[in-house]
Amino acid sequence: MYELLKTEGKAKRGRLHTVHGVIETPVFMNVGTAAAIKGAVSTEDLKEIDTQVQLSNTYHLHLRPGDEVVKKLGGLHKFMVWDRPILTDSGGFQVFSLAGLRKIKEEGVHFQSHIDGRKIFMGPEESMQIQSNLGSTIAMAFDECPASVHERAYIEQSVERTTRWLKRCKAEMSRLNDLPDTVNKEQLLFGINQGGVLEDVRIAHAKEIAELDLPGYAIGGLAVGESHEEMYRILDAVVPHLPQNKPTYLMGVGTPINILEAVERGVDFFDCVYPSRNGRHGHAYTNQGKINLFNAKFELDARPIEEGCGCPACSKYSRAYIRHLLKAKEMLGMRLLVLHNLYFYNHLMEDIRLALDEGRFTEFKKRKIEEMTKNT
Ligand code: GUN
Ligand code: ZN
Repeated sequence: MYELLKTEGKAKRGRLHTVHGVIETPVFMNVGTAAAIKGAVSTEDLKEIDTQVQLSNTYHLHLRPGDEVVKKLGGLHKFMVWDRPILTDSGGFQVFSLAGLRKIKEEGVHFQSHIDGRKIFMGPEESMQIQSNLGSTIAMAFDECPASVHERAYIEQSVERTTRWLKRCKAEMSRLNDLPDTVNKEQLLFGINQGGVLEDVRIAHAKEIAELDLPGYAIGGLAVGESHEEMYRILDAVVPHLPQNKPTYLMGVGTPINILEAVERGVDFFDCVYPSRNGRHGHAYTNQGKINLFNAKFELDARPIEEGCGCPACSKYSRAYIRHLLKAKEMLGMRLLVLHNLYFYNHLMEDIRLALDEGRFTEFKKRKIEEMTKNT
């Protein structure tokens, strides 16, 4: 159940109650594709940096270790030792971005595993069955994310198929939730809006899926190569046609500035690999923008990554030490940067929530963006 606590313009401050606890929104979901955040980050670490939600992937966990295995071990929460909410992506997007040779049909997608080349079929029912075996808190609908190069005719028929798939997902999820041995009988299904950068297709699709009265709605198919301005234009157009009294999730986004811009437009769920991926590559987020710890200017820099940051890296270690670790390819270097970056994202969201609570988000957003872009 979602409570809309407060609004400021289109921006929403909300709270989603789930069987695995409350999610305060706007929220950033930390991406643990294969049931772990890359960079040797444990679930205890995640609690220490105030992570509310973890995201995992149907596609990856189905291939390895197998969702049946996870179910036998009591579900994903027990398997990865995480008692807070987990959102699983449906596999749709990953099938399109990772799998080899694929064939899309009305019933679903035939593809080859990127791990061992084995042939696999996944449709709406299979995706729901896998996510049900995992027992995630929130399951995502099985969708097609059409490539941005596709022309209108393709996008229109793809979106229509995604709608038919969504109806099948909803029916299958409700059947699975009623089975006696289901891991999580209260698994929530979020629908996904598609339509590329075509506003009219996006809006018509949003209206159609809103009628299905699902517990939440995502906007997919963005941040796939279009400009930031184009993404904001689509958000301006589509968010007002998704239910305001349900969570609104922008998939795979984005930079801290993208998040601030999207919150202003009414989005309240986010996920992105940037903090962990950039951390593994030596980049740290700070309130003055991103810094590259490989840079020679940090060789003798005894300061923490960010003065005043409460993360496990900044409370003890210097830029110079972390730079050394990175250059020596010591795993600890990556780990400290990933922890700092995830802390940065989770605490940015906390600051956003506080600003919304106090009715000063517009002000906050403006100042934050000015700060982060001052040196670039
Ligand atoms: N992650 C980022 N974009 C998408 C999308 O369009 N669909 C799905 N299922 N996941 C995504
Ligand atoms: Zn820090």
